[in-house]
Amino acid sequence: MITTLRTETESDYRAVEELTREAFWNLYVPGCDEHYLAHILRDHPDFIKEFDFVVECSGKVIGNIMYTRSYVENEKGEKTETATFGPVSVLPGYQRNGVGAMLIRHTVRLAREKGYPAVIIYGDPHNYCKHGFKNGKDYNISSNDGSFPLGLLVLELKKGFFEGHSWKFYNSPAYEFDKAAAEEFDKRFDPKVKGHKPSQDLFSMQCRAHL
Ligand SMILES: CC(C)(COP(=O)(O)OP(=O)(O)OC[C@H]1O[C@@H](n2cnc3c(N)ncnc32)[C@H](O)[C@@H]1OP(=O)(O)O)[C@@H](O)C(=O)NCCC(=O)NCCS
Repeated sequence: MITTLRTETESDYRAVEELTREAFWNLYVPGCDEHYLAHILRDHPDFIKEFDFVVECSGKVIGNIMYTRSYVENEKGEKTETATFGPVSVLPGYQRNGVGAMLIRHTVRLAREKGYPAVIIYGDPHNYCKHGFKNGKDYNISSNDGSFPLGLLVLELKKGFFEGHSWKFYNSPAYEFDKAAAEEFDKRFDPKVKGHKPSQDLFSMQCRAHL
């Protein structure tokens, strides 16, 4: 499979939203709203435009990754900007060919070059441990409520940066969007049936699991 990695342009927006919807549909909850998230993220002040990439295969956009600015704050009130990705999506049918890895590896390299001390995300550890992510607890980085969710994952880019402090992670408010607006947005796409998949039960357990 020959693929090209490049910056997302405005003419990719619809294709990216469609592939995001296909990738997430019924995976974690019945239906999905990540395509709406992709739609609104690009205009959000926390959006990191220079980390917004697509992968193309034979002229078709098959993968995308988007980042926002987030931050961590330590017990002294010292804040540091971090980078957070999501959504990251690969069109079903093109998955398990290294496209997701390509998007993650490339943007992590850019984040390192930009001087970010870490990429911090909420995600399924299965997808990210292979890229070097560890749980927040390993760096004493909790969610902003002080807990250590299973899915709070940290890729340290500056070795030892977090040592000697306790930190709280603050995700961008961009991810707290209006669910009704997401439902309304979905009407712009071909109808799809919402349903149950076992992966939703796994996700529900993971969301409640803490270290
Ligand atoms: C998560 C996601 C982005 C990963 O994209 P991807 O392109 O499938 O990722 P990769 O191909 O790099 O890796 C996936 C698996 O394929 C394997 N793989 C990669 N290239 C392969 C190849 N040529 N032959 C066989 N297996 C291969 C990887 O080792 C990995 O295996 P593992 O899951 O057992 O560890 C994609 O599955 C997706 O869009 N999922 C739905 C949306 C989602 O969940 N997003 C993340 C939210 S947390």
